[in-house]
Amino acid sequence: MMTDLFATEQQERQEVQQLRAQLEDANYRYYVLNQPTLTDRDFDRMMERLQLLEERYPDLRTADSPTQKVGSDLSQKPNGFEQVAHRYPMLSLANSYSREEIEDWVRHLPEGVEIVCELKYDGLSISLHYEQGRLVRALTRGDGVRGDDVLRNIRTIASIPTYVPGLPDYYEIRGEVLLPWEAFERLNKEREEQEEPLFANPRNAASGTLKMLDSREVARRGLTCRLYHVLGENLPGNTHTERLEQARRWGFPVSDKMQLCRTVDEVMAYIAYWDTERKNLPVATDGIVLKVNSIAEQQTLGFTAKTPRWAIAYKFPAEKQLTLLRSITYQVGRTGVITPVANLDPVQLSGTIVQRATLHNEDFVRQLGIHEGDRVWVEKGGEIIPKIVGKEPNAADDNTEEYRFITVCPECGTPLVRIEGEAAWRCPNENGCPPQQKGKIEHFVSRKAMNIDGLGEETIDLIFQRGLVHNVADLYDLKASDLSVLEGFGQKSAERIITGIEASKQVPWERVLFALGIRMVGETTAKKIARRFRSLQDLQWATTEQLTAVEDVGEQIAGNIVSYFSDTSNLQLLVRLQQAGLQFAAQEDTMEPLAHELDGQTIVISGVFEHHSRDEYKLIIEQHGGKNSGSVSKKTSFILAGSNMGPEKRKKAESLGVPIMDETTFLALIEQQ
Ligand code: IVH
Repeated sequence: MMTDLFATEQQERQEVQQLRAQLEDANYRYYVLNQPTLTDRDFDRMMERLQLLEERYPDLRTADSPTQKVGSDLSQKPNGFEQVAHRYPMLSLANSYSREEIEDWVRHLPEGVEIVCELKYDGLSISLHYEQGRLVRALTRGDGVRGDDVLRNIRTIASIPTYVPGLPDYYEIRGEVLLPWEAFERLNKEREEQEEPLFANPRNAASGTLKMLDSREVARRGLTCRLYHVLGENLPGNTHTERLEQARRWGFPVSDKMQLCRTVDEVMAYIAYWDTERKNLPVATDGIVLKVNSIAEQQTLGFTAKTPRWAIAYKFPAEKQLTLLRSITYQVGRTGVITPVANLDPVQLSGTIVQRATLHNEDFVRQLGIHEGDRVWVEKGGEIIPKIVGKEPNAADDNTEEYRFITVCPECGTPLVRIEGEAAWRCPNENGCPPQQKGKIEHFVSRKAMNIDGLGEETIDLIFQRGLVHNVADLYDLKASDLSVLEGFGQKSAERIITGIEASKQVPWERVLFALGIRMVGETTAKKIARRFRSLQDLQWATTEQLTAVEDVGEQIAGNIVSYFSDTSNLQLLVRLQQAGLQFAAQEDTMEPLAHELDGQTIVISGVFEHHSRDEYKLIIEQHGGKNSGSVSKKTSFILAGSNMGPEKRKKAESLGVPIMDETTFLALIEQQ
């Protein structure tokens, strides 16, 4: 390579620093933000180059180099989960991409060893800890040394047993948490309707889901899991397969697609079979894993700093095509977000024709360094959404001009704004930009909001074009005779819509609040806000401080609410909606808690319980007027503690003087009154 031949030592030393920064950044985007920007292959290539340079300049080797540690999914800020040290470090696997690389790995193994081939599931790794038969912790990989205890979310996965009697006192079983394709597609469809950013692939969706604080939402999304590694002292079984088969008999969801191989030919046949057949599996896979079967041999082979020597991954090649980037156009979303879109010369990729791909935002386009007229690589790997992963360098006509994002809205001409800390440019003309106006109406009538039947996207487009409605208040002035004269409408369909609009006047306050489409106030947040602010008037005068006291409402959402009510066009709209007869106050029977023993109390749940699950306790707390919180602070009224309460929580509670209540006392407290 050019760089190798001509680079000076000084340049190569600088390159080490650059590569480290790029790899750290790629790890952060992949594991923490769940928004990968590099392909695995490019990542591995950069890592190899760094390894080579570190060997060339040993004085540059450091323990914290990305070559020496696994990528971390730990967030810098508290995220509501307790960080716990792993008893056995959670490592990664070395990757390979060809028969030659597999042969190379096999060559370093003792002769004649048995190799197990398994599918490589594309989710995020989890370590389940069992003590005296009970599932007590579920740790993410974190930085390999410490992970987040996400047990409350793992409990939503029905196939993971929470009690398995009669086994060793302590063992861990590790595997992959996954979101099945079907659930992933359903979730993305919902997010598209709500104009929330889509997950690029099931792995990112699973990872985002597992770190959520609301376990009911986690349960609704439908995670699943496949387990592939049992660890502990004095475990029965001398081989990896024996241990896994035993675990399957104990009731664990172990993959049933393992195969023992003795030759590289057999391994290649397994790869060839699953590269095609994996498309019929309910979950995503991105390769296969080869493991030495004998536990004794595994122990002899041992580990490098990051990976075991007794295992290696083989990654399936992603389908990739080169095509022409004809143009970059810009789409204005319901919330005014401007998304750059690549318009491509059509290409065939994994069975579908691709001619458009999202470019996400300005930074994404800049990172790729692409311009209209470039030849670009389009890839469809584990993702269903095609993406541009790079361009074909072309020295002759390479365009080095800096990419410029548009400065005014393509729909209404308003100058765009970019809010600090956000990647997206937005059109701020919320109430006068056509896609935003239509989007607001679409959201307002949608099923989870006002649920007005018969008003789909096309009809809204039509009545908007005809000037019949400009905003949601105009809906309540519509008459059947306005609609029945429209193309494709009859008296009946017109009346059905008017009846639907009429019925929407009974929709409860919490859904009306969601329907207003205040930025970032989703369905669940709206419910929580409506529970605390029981009428429009209450909410309208709420201060940021009062708002942030509501669970899930941070500074940003509070700010959005305050600014919504300070916009006169919104106030005018609300007056008209009120006059139309919408529910702007809670009806007593819709939201009143069942009892009031815990009114005004903020409770933190910690540990494992006998009588109810943690999610049931959360519900019980809400039903009795209390509020749940994930972290201990001086606002905490008390901690409802089961067995194995997190030591960090206990320490914090003691230092703040927050009382700790056991399960029996808590149940008595509720029943007594
Ligand atoms: S074994 C000591 N087996 O792939 C390493 N890992 O790229 C133990 N993965 O961190 C890992 N399927 O999250 C193993 N059948 C399988 C796997 C698998 C998926 C994941 C795992 C690991 C990552 C490495």
